[in-house]
Amino acid sequence: MSAVRFTPLTLVNGLTLKNRVVVPPMASQTADNNGLATEKTFSHYQGLAQSGAGLVMVEYSHVNLAGRSEANQLGAHDDACLPGLSQIAKLLHQMDVKTGLQITHCGGKDSAAISTDIMGPSGIVVPAYDRVLPTPRAMTQDDIARWQQDFVNSAIRADKAGFDLVEIHCAHGYGINQWLSPLTNQRTDQYGGSVKNRARILLEMVSQIKQAAPRLAIMTRIPGQDGYPGGLSHSDMGQVSQWLVDAGVEILNVSSGIGGWNRPKDIRGEGFLVADAAPLTGKTAAAVIGVGGIETLDYIETILTNKQVDLVAVGRAILAGPTDFATRVMVNN
Ligand SMILES: Cc1cc2nc3c(=O)[nH]c(=O)nc-3n(C[C@H](O)[C@H](O)[C@H](O)COP(=O)(O)O)c2cc1C
Repeated sequence: MSAVRFTPLTLVNGLTLKNRVVVPPMASQTADNNGLATEKTFSHYQGLAQSGAGLVMVEYSHVNLAGRSEANQLGAHDDACLPGLSQIAKLLHQMDVKTGLQITHCGGKDSAAISTDIMGPSGIVVPAYDRVLPTPRAMTQDDIARWQQDFVNSAIRADKAGFDLVEIHCAHGYGINQWLSPLTNQRTDQYGGSVKNRARILLEMVSQIKQAAPRLAIMTRIPGQDGYPGGLSHSDMGQVSQWLVDAGVEILNVSSGIGGWNRPKDIRGEGFLVADAAPLTGKTAAAVIGVGGIETLDYIETILTNKQVDLVAVGRAILAGPTDFATRVMVNN
């Protein structure tokens, strides 16, 4: 076996990942009610780093207390979060792992139990297969500017905390996905209508973050498609990806859209979202991550060797046993 998984990867901004395996962002529900990391958060990430992955992403962290979907969601919304976030980055760096912080506003996917001001691009309920979500109010130009400032401020905190990169969560039906998708964005101003207009809030944000925190690499977790009738298509996301990379994104982390991150009912086997990522690989200067039910060394080597993706994300198989994964997959034989 050629062991492509151990080949380092250097991103456009010069950041080098020591191998091709990534732990994707996974909510640990270990923060306190103000979004501050706890001892449980620290030991959770120390555990994940034992997988041997070269990049460990830190879970979706809200940019504003009003944009949460869980009461114990990690936060990046306030300087009070800095000591905890710095501690996570430090622990991971001590284990020779690169790390990034995923930032999000849940928008119309906020929890009605904890948010009193649920908003989205057009006041349209976010469609979901597994639950009925609340009706958001349509956002004003001031709300748009506020979201952008909140994302930028959170990225600046990721920078101050010592993370190597920041990831904007644009998938799984959360806030930015709601802006990209024609299902939830039916505005008639410059932030709605064409794909370019629907991507505008995000593209502006990427440029603002690039200016405010130039040291950080930027990753976007994007849907390969919405996975919902009438939603974002592969071709829409091909265009959006090119614009994102032109604006300064170094990694496209390809997952699913409005329908959520779960395995589509009709797809079996490992790599259930790799077919959504593969068309984007090699098309831009950005590295592409594929994900979905990946667990074995053979599958990881195959999709890397075939250049279907540049990096492989392994979530639940690592969550279930980081050291078992290290012994099973991250050995050079
Ligand atoms: C417990 C759990 C929490 C998750 N939280 C997030 C999250 O915070 N952000 C995100 O983009 N995806 C999240 N996901 C989706 C994962 O990143 C990943 O895409 C998904 O688990 C599929 O990969 P896997 O089959 O290797 O687990 C979560 C998944 C799980 C299982």
